[in-house]
Amino acid sequence: MRFSVATIRKIQDVFISEMNKGIHQQPSSLQMENTYIPELLDGTEEGLYLALDLGGTNFRVLLLELAHGAPVRQEVKRYYISSELRVGSAIPLFDYLAECVSDFVISQGLQDVELPLGFTFSFPMVQHSLDVGILVTWTKTFNCSDAVNKDAVRLLREALDRRGDTKVKVVAVLNDTTGTLVQGSTLDPDTAIGLILGTGSNACYLERADRVEHWETERHGEREVIIDIEWGAFGDNGVLDFIKTDFDRENDANSLIVNSFTFEKYIAGKYLGEVVRVILARLTKEGLLFVGESTSESLLTPGSLTTDLVSHIEQDSVDGDDSNTKEILGKFGIIPDEDDIRIVQYVCEVASNRAALLVSICLATLLDRIDKERITIAVDGSLYKHHPRLEGWMKQYISLLAPGRKFKLIHAEDGSGKGAALVSAIAQRLKKRLQ
Ligand code: GLC
Repeated sequence: MRFSVATIRKIQDVFISEMNKGIHQQPSSLQMENTYIPELLDGTEEGLYLALDLGGTNFRVLLLELAHGAPVRQEVKRYYISSELRVGSAIPLFDYLAECVSDFVISQGLQDVELPLGFTFSFPMVQHSLDVGILVTWTKTFNCSDAVNKDAVRLLREALDRRGDTKVKVVAVLNDTTGTLVQGSTLDPDTAIGLILGTGSNACYLERADRVEHWETERHGEREVIIDIEWGAFGDNGVLDFIKTDFDRENDANSLIVNSFTFEKYIAGKYLGEVVRVILARLTKEGLLFVGESTSESLLTPGSLTTDLVSHIEQDSVDGDDSNTKEILGKFGIIPDEDDIRIVQYVCEVASNRAALLVSICLATLLDRIDKERITIAVDGSLYKHHPRLEGWMKQYISLLAPGRKFKLIHAEDGSGKGAALVSAIAQRLKKRLQ
């Protein structure tokens, strides 16, 4: 779980090589998908825009009013998606999304207004254009298998048409990292990377357009374009097997879609708690932890230790305290002794620290690739927000791994939501220009 300098360098080399292969359309575990977003906001955007944000912890519909390229008003409503819908078939899921959109639009009294909608669909897609996104595979907590290889925009448009009770027009589909980059650019013009550390993990960045081969629409002299790396899948082809531990194999075996999204399973919120649980369960079985305690059945149950609990235990390590750790173990029916507490806190630290280091290795590599004088990384996601130590470790590791590079980490709150409305405004502007 702890990497040597040589291992860190090897991960970095493999990441560079997979990125190059991906962008040149050669077999690679990094998709390096073109998002067809070639520019950011220019300050002329105005009017009302809708956003739909599907894929993370929350499902939301948003309305954003823009003036001079910046949000001046925002309305948001959260909706709950049941686990039956998450792993059922595509039509009921998209019917439900459409139902939520129309509920929201009608509650705003906007059912007769033609509203452009940006759809944040935070799953790997093959994009044929800004408003066509073919689902490659589900990840995280979703698995409606009959939607794979289908266009998410088309599924949404058809569901909206079946209802026919609003005038919503889907104008763009995007990834949450892309929304975060665009939202970040309204806070800091040096933003060139969008990062999500939430239920899943992924990043996108501003790439030189001449380096991008997959470009299906007509080019119009674009200088840059946002590339969605889809780094969650890094290592799915075996290139990262040298860091895989037995704990990771077990974590993968307990996940919704096995043998897929290798890298994400080392770092993201959906999995970090499970990595910790697998280690604690192993130590318990080997008689090294909770000795004398009756084995806690719930700790042996996959999925029982969620990542927010890891963050709470980490908070104890930061504060030099034990209270969160005791309380959490108490809920598992365990009364820990001093050693148990130290071991549990140590395991949470090791797993969290590995996540921070892996993310930092990739970010440091990206800073070199983008090669601009100053680069701001816009970050969002529940794990980043709630884990007390990730940000600090990341700053430290990125500085060490990309010496001399000037970078900043900023929190682009709700990038996946607001960013979708901003991207739909960019989409409208590009369309008008080409007409
Ligand atoms: C998963 C998805 C990716 C998304 C990330 C963060 O890795 O495949 O598209 O950006 O989760 O939500």
